[in-house]
Amino acid sequence: MSRQYYIAGNWKMHMTRAESASLAKAMVEQLKDGKHKYLVAPSFTGIETVGAIVKGTNIRLGAQNCASEEQGAHTGEVSVLQLKDLGVQTIILGHSERRHVYKEDDALINKKVKLALKHGFEVILCIGELLEEREAGKVEAVCETQTVKGLEGVTAAELANVVIAYEPVWAIGTGKTATPEDADAAQAFTRKVIAKLYGQDAAEKIIIQYGGSVKPDNAAQLMAKENIDGALVGGASLKPESFIPIAKFA
Ligand code: 13P
Repeated sequence: MSRQYYIAGNWKMHMTRAESASLAKAMVEQLKDGKHKYLVAPSFTGIETVGAIVKGTNIRLGAQNCASEEQGAHTGEVSVLQLKDLGVQTIILGHSERRHVYKEDDALINKKVKLALKHGFEVILCIGELLEEREAGKVEAVCETQTVKGLEGVTAAELANVVIAYEPVWAIGTGKTATPEDADAAQAFTRKVIAKLYGQDAAEKIIIQYGGSVKPDNAAQLMAKENIDGALVGGASLKPESFIPIAKFA
């Protein structure tokens, strides 16, 4: 496989600046000989602190969301311009917590995706089905809709800066990981959706991560699958003891 493995830590709403700094320092130290592509996405409040620590290393700096507008009267929102000012390189968009807890729909997510790409960010677009959707046989339909609508208006050139993260909602934070076979099937299907939209070459190049209870003891089996090109890690990214073995999976 020519695609590079990409392991990302999504810290969600955890950690003070001091805690963030200590974890980021451990990551820098222990991943300096790491062979894959890496990202850390702290809370907005930790970005500046963590950014100073990962600057110039092999760990990219990420944010977990951005506003759909560039700037203006949007109380409580954070703009792409502000993220750029902090040195953020990658923005996670469409995370299931944004979709299902904060009610972001595909149209809003698409607006954010286009804005982030226009400003030169790499985007990790998260997709994935709810348990009831899986039970109703709708995994492919959900992956297709969220991919097609999330990428509407994204050019072929911009797609080079897009990563997809397949995160089945029922597997997030539950300790229930998708089997490598089920994750690979959903991700193979999503790659076909990309092929339909952008052609076979783009589909072969795009990185598709898996997320949902990735742990040191299941990372290697997941990433051995043809269509699983990395991991978007939540809970296990909060401690070096669990994140580093995932990031250095063999
Ligand atoms: P967990 O690894 O805690 O299941 O979270 C996955 C996730 O949502 C990463 O974005």
